[in-house]
Amino acid sequence: MPPGSGHSIWLDGELADARGPHLNVTDRGFQLGDGLFETARARRGVVIELDEHLERLRAGCLALGLNLSASDDQIAEGVSQLLVAEGLAGTGSGSSPGPVGDAAVRITVSRGPLERRGLLPAGFEDLDATLVVQAWPYAPTPAAQLERGLRAVSSSIRRDPSSPLAGVKTTSRADYVYARLEAARAGADDALFLTLDGRLSEATAANLFLIAGQTLATPPLTAAILAGTTRTWLLAHAEQLGLAVAEVDLRPEELLAADEAFLTGSVAGIVPLVSLDGRPIGTGRPGPRTGALRAAREDWIDAMSMAALLPEPAD
Ligand SMILES: Cc1ncc(COP(=O)(O)O)c(C=O)c1O
Repeated sequence: MPPGSGHSIWLDGELADARGPHLNVTDRGFQLGDGLFETARARRGVVIELDEHLERLRAGCLALGLNLSASDDQIAEGVSQLLVAEGLAGTGSGSSPGPVGDAAVRITVSRGPLERRGLLPAGFEDLDATLVVQAWPYAPTPAAQLERGLRAVSSSIRRDPSSPLAGVKTTSRADYVYARLEAARAGADDALFLTLDGRLSEATAANLFLIAGQTLATPPLTAAILAGTTRTWLLAHAEQLGLAVAEVDLRPEELLAADEAFLTGSVAGIVPLVSLDGRPIGTGRPGPRTGALRAAREDWIDAMSMAALLPEPAD
């Protein structure tokens, strides 16, 4: 079977045939989008920043009152089993033979199945969450897209920073799908959300950054954004890479006047953004510092995966 043929998933504690059937039709994830998910990058079978993803998942479970009984270790074990079963855990490198296992991993949790109708019918507290892990071969961002950069439109959907769900990665993604449709209908690659009061928030599946002079700026957590793991990494590493960091409210005019801009996400990494609503950002071309940050993040991912595979030192 070729790697990543998608024949298996990991469902509630064991490998299962991806072609199913698996889910009860009353599952609340299906019926109501009553669930959460995480998408992470794996390299050499090592899930990058798995702890951060699981921490965010558990914070979401707490916010929505989902009972996820699986431990972090059990989830990590499930992901490993799946990557091996799918042939996506290759440990090769430039000097050793065999493929480097690069994958996108999705962990989805829903409140579980409940026969009764309604938003919170009797019995909802007793449900044990459904847990599914899926894996795909990693599809690198096409070189042509990196050379040209992404074009964005501003979505007509506004984000409410006072919403307690603004930073929760729920499976209720209709707003994000709609915004991506707005982009596609305008011939653009992605959409940026603004807050109700006109500040920049984030893209449909990525955080937003700009570079102005020697400063790397990004909207703060109070701008109705997801606290992205790649965003957190950049804020921690940018100074070593020669940039001062600023989590500040930004307006579209500041984005257009920036020297460079980019979007960040776990799987796609750091991808240049070159226009908003048909107007160029900076020169309208991907900038050199965006390219350098992207390379630094990719190198770090590679180093983290190698380090995780080193044998534990003996006591
Ligand atoms: C809305 C949104 N913002 C930001 C991100 C980036 O988060 P991360 O860097 O953890 O992938 C994502 C990732 O899917 C997202 O869906």
